[in-house]
Amino acid sequence: MSFDGAHILEEARAQIGVCAQKESLDALRIKYLGRKGVVQDLMGRIPTLSAEERRSFGAGVNELKKNLEALFTEKETGLAAAAAGAAKDFVDITLPGKTPLSGRLHLLSQVEGEICGAFSRLGFRVFKGPEAETEFHNFEALNIPLDHPSRDAFDTFYLRPFDVSRSGFSGREKKLLRSHTSPAQIRALKTCPPPMAVVVPGRVYRPDAVDASHSFMFHQVEGIAVDKGIRFSDLKGVLIAFAKEMFGAETRMRFRPSFFPFTEPSAEVDISCFACKGQGCSVCKKSGWLEILGCGMVHPHVFKSAGLDEKKWRGFAFGMGVERVAMLKYGVNDIRLFFENDIRFLEQF
Ligand code: PHE
Repeated sequence: MSFDGAHILEEARAQIGVCAQKESLDALRIKYLGRKGVVQDLMGRIPTLSAEERRSFGAGVNELKKNLEALFTEKETGLAAAAAGAAKDFVDITLPGKTPLSGRLHLLSQVEGEICGAFSRLGFRVFKGPEAETEFHNFEALNIPLDHPSRDAFDTFYLRPFDVSRSGFSGREKKLLRSHTSPAQIRALKTCPPPMAVVVPGRVYRPDAVDASHSFMFHQVEGIAVDKGIRFSDLKGVLIAFAKEMFGAETRMRFRPSFFPFTEPSAEVDISCFACKGQGCSVCKKSGWLEILGCGMVHPHVFKSAGLDEKKWRGFAFGMGVERVAMLKYGVNDIRLFFENDIRFLEQF
């Protein structure tokens, strides 16, 4: 007795081939490999065969069974892959859309805006000076002596050879990246005849090694107000009004005598720590005070540099670091975070 294994296999292959669903494939599997299926039926005949027939018949049935199983497995994997692909391509149009990231001002721009905004409400106009500044404006005009350390080639970024005799440039033409915004005082006095009051926001450069509190580039806001009878008390009043607006109405201020070549007298200004209200905490390093700016009355030398009569005019000037104010106000503990462009930091503000 024999059977046509090849024929059965071909028939199965054709039927499996047109299967599009797992359900119809399962039905076919039952038809061929099930308990009452084609293969099982053939197996059932084995006991009726003679000993000689059994061997080749049995081998044929086993072969058929193996080939059928292979066909089913192959098709099953194919169907599963197709189903996965379809699931991947499935678009759920009822889901909410992705919100595009909207841009915003960098924290430093926001704080610069807050500072300039506070002063503009006190009557100051915004003035801008160049970042590539002449040595004259950055130093001489501001009464900074030739032997001042910040005039050293290693303390300032010079844009021309430092050696005047080799560069062929006179002192007035030599340029450098401004080390503070104070040179804009001279430019503002020349451009806006007094009575005047301006604030000057902008970048400044110093070749400091970068660490948590230093950067070779940072931002300052300079201020200068000039009129006929301006007094130190005007400076105090303006700065206190600014500090209350910037750090809260209960902010107190303290002036410590200091020195700047372009102001006389000069002072450094601390505000009472807004975090602990002056009690002493980690923000103010237990002192209760935070240093925020330098200031003073405009030095007569500065008026002369700007071509103004130093007997006629009086004024005050101040300068503060934008990063410092931003770090204090927003609790940022590393200046490098401002410049790394890490969206996870920037989007918090
Ligand atoms: N230019 C000074 C600095 O960079 C700050 C300052 C400005 C001090 C104006 C007094 C008056 O440290």
